[in-house]
Amino acid sequence: KHSYPLFVAIDGPAGSGKSSVSRAAARRLGYGYLDTGAAYRALAWHVLARDIDAQDAVAVAGALESFDYSIGTDPDAYFVRVGETDVTDAIREPQISAVVSAIARVPAVRTHLTELFRSIARNVPQPGVVVEGRDITTVVAPEAQARILLTASEEARMARRSAEISTQSAHTVAEQLRSRDRADSQVVEFMSAADGVTTVDSTHLDFDQTIDAVVEVINTARNSH
Ligand code: DC
Repeated sequence: KHSYPLFVAIDGPAGSGKSSVSRAAARRLGYGYLDTGAAYRALAWHVLARDIDAQDAVAVAGALESFDYSIGTDPDAYFVRVGETDVTDAIREPQISAVVSAIARVPAVRTHLTELFRSIARNVPQPGVVVEGRDITTVVAPEAQARILLTASEEARMARRSAEISTQSAHTVAEQLRSRDRADSQVVEFMSAADGVTTVDSTHLDFDQTIDAVVEVINTARNSH
């Protein structure tokens, strides 16, 4: 008998600590982990590698045909590949961040990747899976047993992002984060919690406390299912 893993959906803005917290929570629970933003980034990498104009929606949609992407769902063995190329680090580069919102805006891209996410998540070998992004609680897996919106004040998010990217000035980081949030929130609403979604505000929590809070929401949901 085949049964699906327990689904945990986590959404939130850039710099909320979403990725590292989701991965740590998955590790603690022995669950799989799926970073959906990495797929949009990998497609952005593919588009740039093929010299396709990221602003050309038709060309971007066309690039899906040759987009051969794979991602590690073991929280201890994370990788992102396009074809034979490991792009785990390359997709975090500023050139990618600069164009990824344009890629994520193309409806054909969203439909295609959403289907892919559902199929990857259903097939993890673990008893549960933490799926993290912007529209997981609302579009990709609204039926998830645990649904969380991870937020933090803009100030806290900027401070965390600047600490990550120490080579850029705090001002540049703040500007980039603001403009990406603005562009992204035109595509999907992720700044406020949908019905039935639990908000975890990490503004005054450290990393471990945030994981504790997230794991608690998951355990509560698990016990009531
Ligand atoms: O979380 P991130 O910064 O790696 O996400 C990269 C981009 O992908 C971001 O600009 C928003 C977009 N994205 C999306 O539109 N839907 C998702 N489920 C995940 C990411």
